[in-house]
Amino acid sequence: MNIARKIDQAYRPRRFTLPKRTSELVALIAVSTTLFLFLHTRDLHLRLKEMEVRLQPEDIILTNQLLSGESGPEELSGVKAMMKLLQSTGEMPTLEPNQLNNTRKAQHDVVFFNRVPKVGSQTLMELLRRLSIRNDFGFHQDRVQRVETIRLAPEDQAALSALVSSYEEPSVYIKHVCFTNVSSFGLPEPIYINLVRDPVERVISWYYYVRAPWYYVERKIAFPDLPLPDPKWLKKDFEQCVLSGDRECKYLKGEVREGIGDHRRQSMFFCGHHVDCLPFNTDGALERAKRAVEENYAVVGVLEEMNTTLAVLEHYVPRFFEGASDVYWNEISRYNPINKNNFKPPVSEEVKELVRKNFTREIEFYEFCKQRLHKQYLALKLKKP
Ligand SMILES: *[C@@H]1O[C@H](CO)[C@@H](O)[C@H](O)[C@H]1NC(C)=O
Ligand SMILES: *[C@@H]1O[C@H](CO)[C@@H](O)[C@H](O)[C@H]1NC(C)=O
Ligand SMILES: *[C@@H]1O[C@H](CO)[C@@H](O)[C@H](O)[C@H]1NC(C)=O
Ligand SMILES: *[C@@H]1O[C@H](CO)[C@@H](O)[C@H](O)[C@H]1NC(C)=O
Repeated sequence: MNIARKIDQAYRPRRFTLPKRTSELVALIAVSTTLFLFLHTRDLHLRLKEMEVRLQPEDIILTNQLLSGESGPEELSGVKAMMKLLQSTGEMPTLEPNQLNNTRKAQHDVVFFNRVPKVGSQTLMELLRRLSIRNDFGFHQDRVQRVETIRLAPEDQAALSALVSSYEEPSVYIKHVCFTNVSSFGLPEPIYINLVRDPVERVISWYYYVRAPWYYVERKIAFPDLPLPDPKWLKKDFEQCVLSGDRECKYLKGEVREGIGDHRRQSMFFCGHHVDCLPFNTDGALERAKRAVEENYAVVGVLEEMNTTLAVLEHYVPRFFEGASDVYWNEISRYNPINKNNFKPPVSEEVKELVRKNFTREIEFYEFCKQRLHKQYLALKLKKP
């Protein structure tokens, strides 16, 4: 923090309007107040750092569950099931990587990772940061916003597209934002990538993420005038929230809820900025999201299937992801021992099932991404690991 400038700002206006003595007094008060605030903030910062170490975003937890093998059988059975299906329809031998390779369409060697929150994208971001050194490419990331605006007006989409196109090749650019069709502004097509996760697990994760102390302490430091949340709201648990029909945990078809960003749906990050993308759980939004994945995304990884995701990234976007599995398993997951969001209690299957019933299009989108990933993987015809 620049104390000198703060004092200067507090001091200057008064110098011209008040007699010398008074202005000196004001300055003295300003100095001590600023110093006090500075010490106080620094203390909070330190405590926050400690908390961060203990409580990493749960993003990282799931990848550790993979390490312990929990998701292993599921990952393999998913790929195997797809293989059986393709064999039964006779599609298996005709599966060609080229037809599933949108990296080939890119006109500008910049990876645009419009990351979805709470799907493990923090881990993928860390992987990219390390790979940027290993594979020698630029690493650019948007800073934390007061309000994450993921849906932009056309002029802001144009500005964002221009920004993405302005990076030197090869580079990666990371931001929480809806799919932005860079080529529709007459600019060269980048390489789109993203990650998804089971949509119901994700919504639960989000629910507890915004209630974890390090989340709002961090926001309070970044934006001191934000009010602190109501303790009652902080203590509300997800099961009760769903079962009691609380507004916050009601997921109604066609409903539009904007403002703080619609965190119920990861498909919104793929659908784009169109008004049809706004209503919850609708066919129109689902179709747009699927189309963008099919036409524009080089790879959409799946958190629950990290090994398949890494293999597909390595083969379909090799300039950036060469060595990704190695870096991921040897450098990232190894140094993140089980970090649980201690504020996230288990949620019963019954409650998850209730939520699932209203997330049908979200689940369909997730399954769609998974199947595409499996196809891309099988098309590589890799030998058994
Ligand atoms: C994923 O790959 C790592 C490293 O090769 C391996 O240790 C782990 O068992 C694999 N996990 C699954 C689910 O296949
Ligand atoms: C992106 O823009 C291009 C050029 O205008 C268009 O052809 C394409 O269909 C758009 N893609 C999506 C998914 O909207
Ligand atoms: C699911 O949607 C129905 C209406 O279609 C609504 O009555 C119910 O409250 C919703 N449940 C949840 C958990 O959002
Ligand atoms: C996909 O296309 C990129 C760019 O042309 C190429 O480097 C990569 O090897 C291709 N991958 C596959 C599996 O075809």
